[in-house]
Amino acid sequence: MSAVKGDVGGVVGRGPRELAADPSLDVGRIRADFPVLRRTVAGGKRLVYLDNAATSQKPHQVLDAMDTVYREHNANIHRGVYEMSEVTTALFEGARGRVAAFINAPHSREVIFCRNATEGINLVAYAWGRDNVKRGDRLIVSILEHHSNFVPWQQLAAEAGAELVVIDIDEGGRLRRDQFEAEVAKGARLVAITHTSNGLGTVNPVKELTAIAKAAGATVLIDAAQAVPHTVVDVQDIGCDFLVFSGHKMLAPPGSGALWGRTEILERMRPFLYGGDMISRVAVDTTTWNELPWKFEAGTSAYVDAIGLGAAVDYLTAVGMERVHAHELELVAYVLPRLLEIPGIVVYGPHTLEARVGVISFGLEGIHPHDVATIFDREGVCVRAGHHCNQPLMTRLGCVATTRASFYLYNTIEECDVLLGAVAKAQRIFA
Ligand code: ALA
Repeated sequence: MSAVKGDVGGVVGRGPRELAADPSLDVGRIRADFPVLRRTVAGGKRLVYLDNAATSQKPHQVLDAMDTVYREHNANIHRGVYEMSEVTTALFEGARGRVAAFINAPHSREVIFCRNATEGINLVAYAWGRDNVKRGDRLIVSILEHHSNFVPWQQLAAEAGAELVVIDIDEGGRLRRDQFEAEVAKGARLVAITHTSNGLGTVNPVKELTAIAKAAGATVLIDAAQAVPHTVVDVQDIGCDFLVFSGHKMLAPPGSGALWGRTEILERMRPFLYGGDMISRVAVDTTTWNELPWKFEAGTSAYVDAIGLGAAVDYLTAVGMERVHAHELELVAYVLPRLLEIPGIVVYGPHTLEARVGVISFGLEGIHPHDVATIFDREGVCVRAGHHCNQPLMTRLGCVATTRASFYLYNTIEECDVLLGAVAKAQRIFA
């Protein structure tokens, strides 16, 4: 095996480093990096892409990094002793180093490339959960969870005879801290909590929740799929045991994502998938496992997608995650009060700027969310209408679906005005 560890840097994945010198986020220059934002939709209308919680658009730096691999270096990783394989391996492992640094992981061997956050959570649910969760254990999640951080634990609890405990939210869409503390005090084998709600935009106090859970002896997994793309996430500061996220929500291609886990826990876990690359030695009657992280990366990895993720990390690092978050909050500060003034609107989740990201879920009285999204589409506005993979949350909110606008670093105040105009139009049509 010719794996190269660490960050080789500089060959692909260069971000817009000049942006780092700017005092504030230059949205015009950022938008110029995203080819798809130049297109028109709905018969010539400007594209207003506000569905970033579903997936983000990709800058040319990410597209170029992937294109360069296919055009110039492509060869399978970890397997060849020839130059192209070694270059591609170095780019892949370099991307791992970038991802590790981005979330402040103590070591890149703790970063396991996965297809997405869902696969990372399933890896933990199988490779850790099946050996560590026993009859009578308590698994704590919240009503804010995406199905990906709900169903794997629900199924594990059913299989193991464990109890799934679901923490509620208050009327502002905030996790019930009192209930969390009370339930953890009764005992918890695992706490699996979202960092940031993809449905409401709520940011949980994950550092404090983790401290409470760890003090009670629980293992803690943080679903950071809606957090890593939008704000600074530091696994050492949070103090959790596992953290997952998806690349496609953070400028990288679908099929890229990562699970971070503590070395001492990952070392004790059995593999998730068996096959090539994850072995050390295979004999007819026995097999030993590769070192971390490759023990958990069976088969040919989606290495070009991972290299794209590394380029996305470069891009976001150059922009600065504090600035990404501040920009999204500026958009929320502009659009949220204006939405709240509209008669017949219900805005779900936090009505304040505190501890939130740029996700706004709402309903318009008498209009189905799918009709709202269809009218928006005619105005060139892309939003998601539906349950957002949050069916337990929708039930808790007393609705079957919401209309959700979700912002990213390339969105503008002018686009917020188009959104507000589209709301007014939907209300006029259904008046
Ligand atoms: N999880 C994605 C969303 O929130 C697909 O829309």
